[in-house]
Amino acid sequence: MEAMRSYERYGLLLNERVVKTPIAVSAMAGIVDAEYALARSAHIGAAFLGGYSIDAPTMEASRDLAAAGRPEFLYDDPVEALAAQVSRMAPSDIICGLNLRAGSAESLAGIASQIGDSVIYEIDAHCRQEPLVRARCGEYLLHHTDLLAESVRALKREEVTVSVKIRAGVSADDRLLAKKIWKAGGDIIHVDLMDYGYQKVRQIRNSSPLFIIANNSINSFEKMKDMLSHGADMVSLARQSDDRTLAGLDAAISRFTGEHGWYNAPKQLCRGGDIRSLAFCCMPVKNCPLIPMLEKIGLSREDYLAFKQKAVAETPLDFGSQTCFGSLAWCCKDSSPCMFREMTLREAGLSSREYMRQKKQLADKILQHLFYEHADTHPC
Ligand SMILES: Cc1cc2nc3c(=O)[nH]c(=O)nc-3n(C[C@H](O)[C@H](O)[C@H](O)COP(=O)(O)O)c2cc1C
Ligand code: SF4
Ligand code: SF4
Repeated sequence: MEAMRSYERYGLLLNERVVKTPIAVSAMAGIVDAEYALARSAHIGAAFLGGYSIDAPTMEASRDLAAAGRPEFLYDDPVEALAAQVSRMAPSDIICGLNLRAGSAESLAGIASQIGDSVIYEIDAHCRQEPLVRARCGEYLLHHTDLLAESVRALKREEVTVSVKIRAGVSADDRLLAKKIWKAGGDIIHVDLMDYGYQKVRQIRNSSPLFIIANNSINSFEKMKDMLSHGADMVSLARQSDDRTLAGLDAAISRFTGEHGWYNAPKQLCRGGDIRSLAFCCMPVKNCPLIPMLEKIGLSREDYLAFKQKAVAETPLDFGSQTCFGSLAWCCKDSSPCMFREMTLREAGLSSREYMRQKKQLADKILQHLFYEHADTHPC
């Protein structure tokens, strides 16, 4: 029942389970384990436990780091240690991910084959600690993206859900990196944005259809909304993952969604929105950011028109003779006040919230079309 309510609110699934809120705890080695996540269960939808080192070279690196005073999880048998964590998480409604450091694709596949598909496998391509980089994991993978892609493929052969935790601005081109992770079969990009902010989220959103988790200093609802309105599906917190901060974000996003219907609605394109904002764009009749965007993605004006018309056919958006372009398909976001749209919605018996939910469905179709169906387009 609770899961159904959450699904109606956010429409979010991860590892084939309903996510109750788009907030996750991000890995902190030696700190974030099942106990840490369960203590925050009231206000998180997912938790990435770890990072855990899972083979001889990375376990050795962890021992070196621990000896130098860094918090690390240490054990002799990684399968036994991880299985114990996973079974502690099993009764909870938190979607569980394991953040893993491995020196080879085989090590990752080996763990997945023994632990099974109840958890998400997150490849740690983020850590910059020297001993781990020497063990060919963490940031090493951002400079050796073929190896990263091979790790993703190896995990996918085990039929599990795969996340890649990256640090923005390290790989030569984050757009190409996102595409590579997507093409290798990855499901989630979990990005530590460093100082790049939401512009980097938009860049990744415009390059791949993957589930995006935005991370780094998301400690206010304003920052969370910035991430969500530029393409993130979820945000994560590590250093400030205290109960008070998490509860505040959870309450704020729940209130916002109750009011607006679409929790991560993009900004309008002319206000810096990502590719999903085509759902709010007008007909291509004036000189505005839509025209270069269509050129960039290789979609002709005629195809854009025909696609949107077809996408809204027989939906509540296929209505609105009093609106600027004769249909709600071309209408603006609920945050832009407009009496013609309001009038149309009233006549159609559609709440503003439901209008936004319909726009979300249109945006999903746009992503599907651009990334999967229209082979000639090149999302930017
Ligand atoms: C003590 C500590 C340990 C961390 N260990 C890991 C790790 O093992 N794997 C990983 O992917 N990220 C690790 N991180 C990075 C965090 O998950 C997160 O990306 C980073 O702290 C930025 O997010 P924040 O501003 O919410 O803390 C660690 C961060 C800290 C502070
Ligand atoms: S088509 Fe309309 S909403 Fe889109 S960028 Fe142009 S003016 Fe803005
Ligand atoms: S009718 Fe209003 S909401 Fe629709 S396109 Fe025109 S200005 Fe935007």
